Amino acid sequence: MSGPNTSYDPVEVAALDPEAVDAAVAAALAAASAATTLEDLKAARGAHQGDKSPLALANREIGALPPSAKAEAGKRVGQARGRVGQAFAARQAELEAERDERILVEEAVDVTLPTGRRPLGRRHPIELMSQRIADLFVGMGWEVAEGPEVEAEWFNFDALNFDADHPARQMQDTFYVDPPDGGLVLRTHTSPVQARTLLERGVPVYVAAIGRVFRTDELDATHMPAFHQVEGLAVDEGITMAHLKGTLDRLAAELFGEGITTRLRPSFFPFTEPSAEMDLRCFVCRGEDPDCRTCKGTGWIEWGGCGMVNRNVLLACGVDPERYTGFAFGMGVDRALMFRTGVSDMRDMIEGDVRFDAQFGMEI
Ligand code: DAH
Repeated sequence: MSGPNTSYDPVEVAALDPEAVDAAVAAALAAASAATTLEDLKAARGAHQGDKSPLALANREIGALPPSAKAEAGKRVGQARGRVGQAFAARQAELEAERDERILVEEAVDVTLPTGRRPLGRRHPIELMSQRIADLFVGMGWEVAEGPEVEAEWFNFDALNFDADHPARQMQDTFYVDPPDGGLVLRTHTSPVQARTLLERGVPVYVAAIGRVFRTDELDATHMPAFHQVEGLAVDEGITMAHLKGTLDRLAAELFGEGITTRLRPSFFPFTEPSAEMDLRCFVCRGEDPDCRTCKGTGWIEWGGCGMVNRNVLLACGVDPERYTGFAFGMGVDRALMFRTGVSDMRDMIEGDVRFDAQFGMEI
């Protein structure tokens, strides 16, 4: 005969006894609140909520109950397990909050402590200025050229139309490299790059060369034995002085701001004909103070030399002067920095004090 199983073994279901369930809940709640660390809590959870815990056992035994008893037992055990689950979750939240609090205290950082931070290096303002000038020329489609600082006398003087006994050779006080008759000098200007460029690259050519030059000047507020120039050379068919003026005005506007007034004043250089000196309107008095110390009352500040490339230079470099003409210029980069920034003593620029450089910003 078959039918619903209404009898069950009371020993097997002892775990479902209400008192036993209540006791299991009480034990679980006590264990949860007794746990003082998250590890303890985990262990207690295993014992009271795990597969082998009394409540899990009781839950399993529900399945063996006759249907009539299942609902009541299921509800009771379910509620018991719910309470235990909540108690553990609440304790878990408490212990986590305590742990976070402890970490905040233990791992606190005192942001006011002095650090071992090393200041970053700075690029020198002359270097920044040189880059800016190079960028301008590259932007106009020119190339950037370089030449050696220890230069052959031939490039520094002869190729540039300085005769052996030309008085112009004494215009620039030259450092000769030992032995003095060895034909090597520290270049006195960047103009030798003109001759090198014409010989190496041929024409047409548009190049700018920025670099260090040397003269036997005493170091003082306005002179340095080593300083910097930007040399420009453009040789092509149909180049005129108007191109020279336009290029220099662009350079001046870039470095000193739009609206700067310039002028060309007749001058002499062996390697240009005609030659000129380019002046800038005095930044300080704008030509309005006859006692101005910056321009000595002239209203103008000399910036550099320029002119149309002398045909003898073109010939020395194998360029046909009947077909090609060109202009050239050489401007002081250190002077430009002084004008731009109001630095009044050139010595500040070469002393290597990072506090000076820092004033010009990083711009790395
Ligand atoms: N080299 C000249 C100097 O240092 C400056 C100069 C003048 C450069 C005329 C030029 C030029 O290219 O055409 O005094």
